[in-house]
Amino acid sequence: MRFPGAHILSVTQFERADVERIFEVADSMRPYAHRERMTKVLDGAILGNMFFEPSTRTRVSFGCAFNLLGGEVRETTDIKASSLTKGESLYDTGRVMSGYSDIIVMRHPQAGSVAEFAKASRVPVLNAGDGPNEHPSQALLDLYTIKKELKSRQQTIDGMHIAMIGDLKHGRTVHSLSKLVSLYKKVKFTLISPRELAMPAGIVEDLRRCGHEVVETEDMESGLVSNDIVYLTRIQEERFASKPEADLYRGRFRLNQSIYTQYCQPNTVIMHPLPRDSRDDANELDNDLNQHPSLAIFRQTDNGVLVRMALFALTLDVCEQIDKSSREVNWYTERRF
Ligand code: NCD
Repeated sequence: MRFPGAHILSVTQFERADVERIFEVADSMRPYAHRERMTKVLDGAILGNMFFEPSTRTRVSFGCAFNLLGGEVRETTDIKASSLTKGESLYDTGRVMSGYSDIIVMRHPQAGSVAEFAKASRVPVLNAGDGPNEHPSQALLDLYTIKKELKSRQQTIDGMHIAMIGDLKHGRTVHSLSKLVSLYKKVKFTLISPRELAMPAGIVEDLRRCGHEVVETEDMESGLVSNDIVYLTRIQEERFASKPEADLYRGRFRLNQSIYTQYCQPNTVIMHPLPRDSRDDANELDNDLNQHPSLAIFRQTDNGVLVRMALFALTLDVCEQIDKSSREVNWYTERRF
C-alpha cells in the first residue's frame, strides 16, 4: 500500500510486505523512543487525539509517539463534552476537526464510526478502536512483539501456534490480530472462549480459507498445551447489555503460575493487550506471573510507542528525514530497557 496520506482503518488494508515495512520503521525508532537521540521532524505538526471511549495506553502512547517525533498533541477525550452529544454527525465532526490537525487518531464505541469520520477528514485518520470491530495499531504492536519474542527463541510467525483466550466475540484486539496473522503461513490458532463469546464465524472461516488450522474449545487446560504464544483478553463488559450478563463469564478463564507450569510448554510467551482485569472475581492474568521472563505484556506496551511512531512517520512521509534532523539528548536518560 501507499502510506503517505493514507487512513489506517483496518488491518485488511495491509499485505505482508506492508507489515514488514512498518516493523522495519518501528525498529529504526528505537533510539528516539529510548531517548538516546531526539528529532524534531514533525515540528509544527498537530495530532488530534480523539478518544470517545476509555483509554490509557493507546491514547498516551499515540500522544508520546507524536511528541517523540517533535509534534504537538491536542486531546479530545470526553464524548459528553463534544458536539456529538448535540446531534452532530461524525461526518461534520471529521470535516471540522481535520481543519485543526495534521493527522487524527480516533477511538469511538461504534463499529465503522472511525471509517465514517475518515470519509470527511482532509488529513490521515488512524483507527484506535471502533467498538468491537478493529484495533489495527494494537494488532501491529502485538505482532511486532510476537515476532521479537519468537526470534529470541529461534522461531518465526510462520508455523507458530497461538492460543487466544477470553471474550473473542467482542474483543477488537483479537479480531485485528487474527486477520493480521492470517497474512502469514500455516499458523495454528486455538480459540478458547465460552461458546457464547466465540470468535465471529466470518473471521474463523477466513483463517481456514487462508490455510491456517483453527481449533475452537471451551476447555482452557487442553487448549493451553503446545502453544508458542498465549494471548489473554478481558471480558469486554462495556459491550454487554448489562453487567450481570458480563458477570456470567468473568473469571471463567484465569492464568496463573501454577496453571502455566502445569499446562503450558516451557517458554510459552504470555501476552495481553491490557488492561487486565485484576479484580478478585476476574483476575484473568495473575500477578504471580509478573516476574516471569515469558510475560511479554510490558514489552508489548513499550513496543506500542515504536509501532505508533512508525505509523506517523509513514503516513506523514518523514521516514527518510528523521535521522537527518536528529541530535543527542542532553539530559540524564539512563533507563533499564
Ligand atoms: C484494548 C481495547 O481497548 O480494545 N485495550 C487496549 O487498547 N490496549 C483491550 C481491552 O480494553 O480489553
